[in-house]
Parts: sequence; C-alpha cells; structure tokens
Amino acid sequence: MADHSAPPLPLTARADRPLAGDIAVPGDKSISHRALMFGALAVGETRIDGLLEGEDVLRTADAMRALGAEVERLGDGAWRVHGVGIGGLAEPVQALDLGNSGTGARLLMGLVAAHPITTFFVGDASLSRRPMARVATPLEQMGARIVAREGGRLPLAVVGARAPMPIRYRSPVPSAQVKSAVLLAGLNTPGATTVIEPQQTRDHTERMLRHFGASVTVETEPGVGRRITVAGQPELVAAPVIVPGDPSSAAFPLVAALLVPGSEVTIANVGLNPSRTGLLSCLAEMGADIVLENRREAGGEPVADLRVRAGSLRGADIPAERAPTMIDEYPILAVAAACARGRTVMRGLAELRVKESDRLAGIAEGLGRCGVRVSVEGDDLIVEGAGNFPAGGATIETHLDHRMAMAFLVLGLVANQPVRIDDARPIATSFPDFEPLMAGLGAGFGVPG
Ligand code: S3P
Repeated sequence: MADHSAPPLPLTARADRPLAGDIAVPGDKSISHRALMFGALAVGETRIDGLLEGEDVLRTADAMRALGAEVERLGDGAWRVHGVGIGGLAEPVQALDLGNSGTGARLLMGLVAAHPITTFFVGDASLSRRPMARVATPLEQMGARIVAREGGRLPLAVVGARAPMPIRYRSPVPSAQVKSAVLLAGLNTPGATTVIEPQQTRDHTERMLRHFGASVTVETEPGVGRRITVAGQPELVAAPVIVPGDPSSAAFPLVAALLVPGSEVTIANVGLNPSRTGLLSCLAEMGADIVLENRREAGGEPVADLRVRAGSLRGADIPAERAPTMIDEYPILAVAAACARGRTVMRGLAELRVKESDRLAGIAEGLGRCGVRVSVEGDDLIVEGAGNFPAGGATIETHLDHRMAMAFLVLGLVANQPVRIDDARPIATSFPDFEPLMAGLGAGFGVPG
C-alpha cells in the first residue's frame, strides 16, 4: 500500500515517439471489489482470477478479512476467499480504512447495514469529502443507524439493523454504488428489496449475484426506469470468478494510441459490458480507428481485444443519457476532445463533481492551463478542439484522483510542451503498472528534474 505520509511524486509526460505494442490492462475494479465481497458472503471457497491488485481493491480484501472471511492471495491476480455465509459477518475490531475507494466504502456500508454489528469507516482526504448520505438514506429506511460527519461524510459508523426491513427505493442519482449498497443490504433482509434506477448504471452486482445463486429480477418500465429486485436471505454458493480487463483503465492507453501520431497498439481482454462502453461509442462518433477483435465471453462478461491506430478525431455532441455508461471516462474523453477538430459538448455531468475529486472543475482548470479553450455551462463541459495539439507546459493538480493523473499524462504525450502532474501516487489505486506499461509502449514519462 502506498505510503501517503511520503512526499508527493511528481511525474512529467512529453511527446516522443509513436506508441507500439500489445498490452493487457489490469482487472476490472468494479468486478474485483464485488468478487471479494460476494465470495466473503458465499458458503464455500471462491477462486478469483485476474483480480485487480490496486490499492482500492486491496483495502476491500482487508475489510473482508476484518469482517471474518478468509482471503488469501495465491499468486498474480489469483485469490481464494472462504466465505462466512449471509448473516455471518463479524463485527470488526478496528475501523475499516477504505483509503480512496468510494466503491469499497459504499458497497460495504450496504453489506454491514443488515447485520447486527457496528462498523466504523474511515478513508483518505478525498474519500472523506465524498457524499455518503446517498447510501445512508436508504440504509436507514431499512433499519440501520448511521452516525456521520456533517453532510453524511466519513468518518462514519453504521449500526446495523437487528431486524432489517425490505424497501422499495427509487434512487435520485444514477449510481451503481447506491443501487449495489441497497441490494447488498437486501441480501440479509427477509422479503424482496427493490431499487429503481432512473437510468441504467453498470450491472456487475446484478450479474454476479446471480452467478453466486441469488434471485435477482430486472424489469424495465418505460418512463420509470429499471427496477431491480433481490430476494432476501438466499444461500450464496461459492463460484469461480474470472475478472476481465478494466475498460476504464484501458481508456488511457487507448486514447494515447489514438492521439500519438503513427501509433498502433492492441489491448487484450478488455471488458465490454454494455453498461461500460459509452467511451467507445463516443470515440467511434469522433472518427477513431478502433477494431474489436476476438469477441468472446469470459466469466459472464463480454470481452474483446481492441486494436487501435492513431488518426485525427472530430468533435462530437455527447448526450447526457450516455453518462452512466462512461462516468469514469470523462477526463480522458476531454483530453481526446482537446486534440480533435471542432467542438465537443459533454452533457449532464453533475456526478463528476462528487468523484475522487471535482472532475468537472479539474478538467476545465487543467485543460485551460494547457492552452485549451474550455468552459463549463451548468452541468455541461464544452471543449473547443483546434484540430492540433494543445500547448501543454503546465503543472496539473490531481487532488488524489488517479484518473485525472492518468488523463493529463496522456495529454502530455502529445502537447507541444511537457505536462507535469503534481502527484502520481494515486494511480496505484486502480492501475498500479500504468507507468511501466505505458513506458513499454514508448511513452515518454519521467521524473521532473
Ligand atoms: C462504480 C460505480 C461508479 C464509478 C466507480 C465504480 C462501481 O460510481 O464511478 O468508479 O463499482 O459501482 P457511481 O455508481 O457512484 O456513479
């Protein structure tokens, strides 16, 4: 785990040579968290292959141990979880420290809310700024009590319900984390727990719960949304999980290969769950040369290899409805837009304000410093692509946000002057090998002198 008492690690990216080679990106972060959590709730032994060994997921592994499961690393990405069964979580002796991870914190709040235990949650400065009331509100309706700082923020304690009640909850925000927290609380609750989401968000929880033997039904009602119901107190049975490569991590080398002239890169084994592929739709509309090869299923999720060639991009109008399918990809899409010809409008980005940092403000600020014409109007981000590469030559503050760090390093690979980020340490939360992997493709990263 990174030592955050150590000084920040600035890193610079400069334009150098074309990117070339074949790579694989680390396992999907969302699926990795869920595999550890559901394995810990199942009866028997769950074997996980391809687990993301980033800091966020390692925090979840520690948390599941603290809640009583046996979690063991067998080798590179290979893990074994021996579960306690639904209802079997033990009260942790120490506070659970979820570091930078909103997914870890919110999903675990749901898990413990329907167990008769009290659990304390802490996290880093970024996580301690993020809103937790969005999960606390439905969990309190189910009978849990949550004592949090002002604004429902960490540190907080969840006093789990002794007799949890099923609810029917309409989420006011499109959030897979909110949906998942309620469904996970529903697992140890008698009766049927229902979440209605206004727009579809990533559905890894629904898929994986079924994979472990739970009954999850999904109905779509036009004009209302997607209604997901879990039947309470199932026996979850251990099941092997193969984690596909994370499309949200693949996005960085993908856009780098599109932008750096003369590049050709293949990224193997990228998850293509339709609730995650919004970026590919946008890039296709912008004229990107991306070929999906070897399409197949792995571990219940569609995957393919992506062959990417550099070329010029044009601006596009990205509808708000697409946001949930690419919510983590806006920093890197904005970088692509900054190098395109013409205006790109990215609509409906309110949720970006409550990610690991305020990404809406951070993207606008960072691109502006790099000489890009950019503005925020309401919840929309507008980037004016001049059809050539931005000036660069700036230092970007990453505010403990891994995706902001990686996006601006990619911009540095094409900008006229190098781009420096103030701290590369947060990258380890989701993509620990980002630097060596990009350097292997030919990226010019270096520690500023
Ligand atoms: C995630 C859901 C998304 C995403 C996050 C991972 C998940 O957050 O930004 O990186 O694994 O459920 P929201 O559901 O809050 O949008």
